[in-house]
Parts: sequence; structure tokens; C-alpha cells
Amino acid sequence: MDRTVWSKIEAEIEATKNVTIGDLFASDPKRARRFTVEAAGWTLDYSKNRISQNTMDLLLELAKAANLKDEIEKMFSGEKINRTENRAVLHTALRNCAPGAQVFVDGADVMPGVRAVLDKMSAFADSLRKGVWRGFTGKRIRNIVNIGIGGSDLGPAMATAALAPYSKRSIHCFFVSNVDATQLAETLRQVKAAETLFIVASKTFTTLETMTNARSAREWLVRELGSEEAVSRHFVAVSTNAGEVAAFGIDTANMFEFWDWVGGRYSLPSAIGLPLMISIGPSNFRKMLRGYWRMDMHFRTAPFSRNMPVVMALLGILYSNGWHADSYAVLPYDQYLARFPAYLQQLDMESNGKGVDRDGKKVDYATGPVEWGEPGTNGQHAFYQLIHQGTRLIPCDFIGFCRSHNPIGDHHDKLCANLFAQTAALAFGKSADACRAEGVPEELVPFKTFEGNRPTNTLLADELSPATFGALVALYEHKIFVQGVIWNIFSFDQWGVQLGKVLAGNVLPALSSAEPPAAGVFDQSTDSLVRRYRAARGLAV
Ligand code: F6P
Repeated sequence: MDRTVWSKIEAEIEATKNVTIGDLFASDPKRARRFTVEAAGWTLDYSKNRISQNTMDLLLELAKAANLKDEIEKMFSGEKINRTENRAVLHTALRNCAPGAQVFVDGADVMPGVRAVLDKMSAFADSLRKGVWRGFTGKRIRNIVNIGIGGSDLGPAMATAALAPYSKRSIHCFFVSNVDATQLAETLRQVKAAETLFIVASKTFTTLETMTNARSAREWLVRELGSEEAVSRHFVAVSTNAGEVAAFGIDTANMFEFWDWVGGRYSLPSAIGLPLMISIGPSNFRKMLRGYWRMDMHFRTAPFSRNMPVVMALLGILYSNGWHADSYAVLPYDQYLARFPAYLQQLDMESNGKGVDRDGKKVDYATGPVEWGEPGTNGQHAFYQLIHQGTRLIPCDFIGFCRSHNPIGDHHDKLCANLFAQTAALAFGKSADACRAEGVPEELVPFKTFEGNRPTNTLLADELSPATFGALVALYEHKIFVQGVIWNIFSFDQWGVQLGKVLAGNVLPALSSAEPPAAGVFDQSTDSLVRRYRAARGLAV
């Protein structure tokens, strides 16, 4: 992070630390308009933040000092910016809707491949939806079970729920990710083998959880349908690894390809989105891609001062590094987006949860924050107390829509009234004097006072459609990218997940072997836990 600019921002924070969001509104009748930007069907009102125009100007200097413009171009044009894995980062190519677009990696245009896979997915989704592709016994496919984890699960699971109003309701989508057999078992209890298609989704096709679940599902299917031959009608794969797909026993004709330049957590608009496409149909899927693309184009071309992902990224940095907020909440006021915070956890925390900079040196500033959230209004009756009156600063993103897919009575007005009211309550609070004026007894005044000055962004779109949904996901993807650039960290690798995987591989045999582990193989605590487990299962300790 640029030290010279950052020290100016720190000085600005120090100089204005007693100026509240309420003060800022009182001194600027045009503030709401000044701090509102529009992009790809979304309005972002960021006026309820601890910023003046000066703060924003300084934050924009920070973006400039990080050469953000060049970094954005490098990403879009296929440079290998994922340096620790020597890969390009081209999720934007997956939704590049510009006619005749070309994007090169190692001298080869990736766009023909992107279009070919989209066409193959569309043909498959259509034939399944129309009942042309049938199961081994001739029955229509009514259930899709996606087996994948992380980026091969969270994106399609979240999006399939988000776009349920556009789905073919006679096809049910299930998502199995956990190696805990409970998830698979409970899913299989709800479906009939003859009517079920399994999509084994794994970029590497080696992930322990996915391969374990896929093997168990395959055994179940063969048992239920009485023939190995059933597998080819009931299993397809989504992967970058044709060799492993074939080794698993899935015909590579039934494999939907993607590429090493698509990060797992950025892979929803690739073939990883197959269950979503089956659910909402190819035309809606393409509308979603167009929504992503509109936000991509906005991000690539809009001046930083009006650039929604850049503005959100800078505000996040202001709070993480300037105000020392450890986390931020994402609060969608739409039940269809219930899984959006969980999806963002991987997107943000796997991308920017890094402790060394691009030169491999330990950073001495905070990087990726903890992201969490739940849909409104449920969260209001659970954790908002802490956001309103707790000791921690928790910046929040509120997300809402002007129209509901389920316009029953006045539910939607009530929902949105709560959204708008929460942002006002957080920003402006309620003073002790206002409590007294209402006749609150003096001893209760401290408990009923709200300091306010709690920052929020509000994101509003007309309705939750494939296009606004795609744009929303792209907005957060790019926000996270910008933060990675400014923090000078690599956002597209995930070495931090490796160690635990390796150690699990070492522990696994010790849980079922005839002989207990030799002394000293594991650390003291792990050893005692392994022995406790073995004892409960009747094995020698
Ligand atoms: O363990 C982390 C991770 O590598 C994620 O980055 C990825 O999304 C997930 O595992 C699943 O990987 P795959 O798609 O290769 O099975």
C-alpha cells in the first residue's frame, strides 16, 4: 500500500474523527446525490459513510498510486497476473459479450472455446429440460445433484437459489459438498435414481470431498438401477482435467470443460454454472452473463470516482485500515439471496486472506476482512443489536430491490421500509436528548441511546433478474480485485488451504488402521484426539 498517500489518509481520519455522518449530511444538502453512482442496473448510495469529498479524493489517489488502471487492463487482457500459479485470470472472458471479441492467452484466442462450451451446455440443458435426454430406464430427469465443493458448489448453489423465480419448477437442484456423508445420504433420500442426473463439478477432479461423494453416488446409482451402464446417462462432469474425468469412468463426451485461467471461486459463469443453466434455461443464463458483462465494462471504463467496484473497494480499505474494522456485513433484503453472504465469504476471504505481499514479504497492515451476513429482516432480530450498539465497527452493505417476485399484500414495502430505516438508524442514531424528550427515564437513557455514525452502503436495483444478479456478482468480484491491488497481495491463489488437506491425508490412515499410531507421529494433542476417536470405535489404542 502506498505509504505516502496512506499517511495523508490517516491524517485526514485523525483530523475529522469527531465529524459524524450526521454532521456531514447537515453541511451538504447535495450529499446523497454526490455520493451515489449507477452501474449495470444498480444504484449505490454510499453517502452514509464516514467520508467527505476530501476523503474520497485521497482514497482515489491511493488507487492511482497502485497503478490500478494498468492492473485492470492486465487482468482483462489475459496477462498472467496469478503469478504464484503462473496463470492468467480471465473470468471476464467467460461473459465477454462483445461481438467478435478476442482474448489471448499464450498467443491463443480463448473466446472460440468459451463460446463452444456455452453452446454445448445450452444444447445439453435444453435436451434435459425438454425430456430428450433421459435416464437409463427412459424416465425424464427431474433431479440434478451437483457434487462439488468451494467454488464448484457455492456459486451454483447460491445462484440457483437466487434465480429460483426463473427456474423450471419441475426440475429440482440439490448440492452436495461436504464429505460428511449426511449431506449425500439426506439428498439421496429425496430423489429416485432413475430420474436423477449427477454433475460432478471439480476444477481439478482430485478434491477429496468431491471424489468421495462422487464415488458413493456412483455406487448408489449402480445399485439402484442394477447396471454399470446406467452411469453414462446419469453422470456428467465439469472440469479442467479430462484425464481424471475419464479415469473416474465418465465419458469425456459428457464433460463440460473450463480452463486453468478460471479461478474456482470466480467460476460461476463457466461450465460450473451448468446446474444453474439447467434450472433457469440457457436464455436466462446468457442474460446473467450479459449482466456480468455490463458491470465488467463499467469497471474497465468508468472513471474511478464514478466506478462502483472501485468506490466500494476504497471504502472497505478506509474501514479496514483506517478505522480498524475487522469485518463487514452483507445484508441482502431478499430471501432469494440467502446464500449470497456465504458465497462472498469464499470469494473475499480465499482471495484476500493473505499475509504476504507480492514480493513475499510479511505485510504490516490488515488485508482481507471477515465477511458475514444473513438476509434481512431476519438479521435484525439476531445480530443487529451488536451493529447498532456494540463496541465494534461493522460497516454494512444493504442490498435491496424495488419490486418483489412475490408481491403479496404489503410484505415488500415492509421489507424495504426496514432496509431504508436500518441504514438511517445506523447513520444518525438517537441522541440522549431525543430519548429524554420522549420521556425515557434518566436511568434508561444510556441503554436507549444510539450513537449512530455507523457506516453503510445501500445497493438498490429494480428487481432481482438474471442481469442484475450477474452484475451484482461481478461488482463484488471487482471490488475484491481492487482491494488486492491496493494491498499489493495476490488475490487469485489460495495456498492457505493446502496444509490442512495434507495433514488430513496423514491422519486418515491412523483413524482405521489395526495398530494405533506410533508415539511421536503426531503432535501431543492430535495424538490424544486420534486415540480418543479410535477408542470410541473399538480400535486398539
Ligand atoms: O480448497 C480450496 C479449493 O481449492 C477452492 O479454491 C476450490 O474452489 C475448491 O477447493 C474446489 O476445488 P475443485 O473445483 O478443484 O474441486
